[in-house]
This record gives sequence, structure tokens and C-alpha cells, in this order.
Amino acid sequence: MNISQLKQQAGEYAVQFVESGMVLGLGHGSTAIFAIRRIAHLLREGRLKDIVCVPCSLHVEANAQQLDIPLTTLDQHPEIDLTIDGADEVDPHLDVIKGGGGALLREKIVAQASRREIIVIDNSKLSAALGTLWAVPIEVVTFGWHAQVAYLEALGAEVRVRQSKDGALFKTDQRNMILDCTFGAIPDPHRLAAQLDQRAGIVDHGLFLDLVTDVIVAGETGIQHLKRQTH
Ligand code: A5P
Repeated sequence: MNISQLKQQAGEYAVQFVESGMVLGLGHGSTAIFAIRRIAHLLREGRLKDIVCVPCSLHVEANAQQLDIPLTTLDQHPEIDLTIDGADEVDPHLDVIKGGGGALLREKIVAQASRREIIVIDNSKLSAALGTLWAVPIEVVTFGWHAQVAYLEALGAEVRVRQSKDGALFKTDQRNMILDCTFGAIPDPHRLAAQLDQRAGIVDHGLFLDLVTDVIVAGETGIQHLKRQTH
């Protein structure tokens, strides 16, 4: 089975937790799109009814419109029942790195408004410590961004300015930049998150800590459903 088939399995599996009448968050990326297509299919068949969805990016909004999925905004529905989204790296605590697609800010706003945040991945994204597999995407305002590079380097990051495929500077839906920061294995993600959260000019970062309730992992031997341990 190739990676795309595993992503499809994980994305579609998560849709069993969607119920008629729910407010849903629709995540961004090549795994979450399989959940979105499955939701559209169930709506067309009448097996799901009366749902409204908050897209996590302009790109997802356009996809959902093409699929005739009813959309709403977080302003109209500030509480979301369930969000299905992808991730780039997942650790054993179900803390994750997100933002490979550049939608981290809207994804985190939606995740924080969600009662249940289901992450869908293929098993190549499981790691023992965040930062091992993926750089942490950090969204910064363009004003004075070199100062943020210096700050991030002082925290130990190797910083890369994200570019689009055509080589132009990547801009988020908010017209900000992304700095992809390689830290290596991060010993204390909460400490790093606090250091990033307190810095003016950093809008948000891809460390999603204590936010994920479930992870659906697709691998060669089948699907695993990991649930956050509540203490
Ligand atoms: C979007 O900004 C990201 O957080 C994605 O959810 C993440 O990069 C996973 O994407 P894929 O499912 O395409 O691997």
C-alpha cells in the first residue's frame, strides 16, 4: 500500500465519528482531504444531514464549496463539535507538529474551539520526540522578520524561510511568512512553545500541545485509534 492509500484509510476512518447535526472543523492537507471527500459523499447520499463546517484555510474553503459542503464561520459557530485534521509529526503524548501546508494559525484557532480534535496520519509520522522528523513551522509578520530569525537562532533553531513551489516567498492566508525551524528532537515542547508564544512578531507556531484528543494512524497492518489519556 502506498502512502496516499494509507492517508485515504486514515482520513475516511475518522468520518465514522461525524454525526448529523454537528458543527465540524475541516483540516488542511493531503490526508484531511480524504475525510472531506467522504463527508461530501455521505451528505450527497443523505446519510449525513444538517452539518455545517468551518474550513481551516482558504484552500479547504474552495474545496468544500466545490463539493457542496455547507460552510459556516467560527464567528457564527464559535464552538465546534469535531475537527478532522492532518499532522506532520505525532509523539507518544499525542502532541503534534502541524503547519506543513502553512495553515497552522487557522488550524490552531479551530482546534482550540473544538471539543474533539481527531488527527489523521499514516504511520511514518509517529515519532518518539517532536522535532525528530519535522521542522517547526513558525508564522511571523513580515515587519522586522529578521529579528525573529535572530531570536529563533538564539533558541537553537536552524531557520529556513519558506518558499512556494515557484520559488516566490510563501505567504499564509493572513499574508504572513513562515520560518521552518529545525531544532532536532525537542526535549521540552511546552517550554519551547512558551518561548515562542511570548515573542511579539511571532503570530503562531506549529506545536499543537494538549489539543489533540484522538489520532487515527494507518499502517500496513491496519488502523490504530490512539486516544489522549485523561488524568
Ligand atoms: C497544514 O498546515 C498542515 O498542518 C497539515 O495538516 C499537515 O502538514 C499534514 O499534511 P498532509 O496530510 O498533507 O501530510
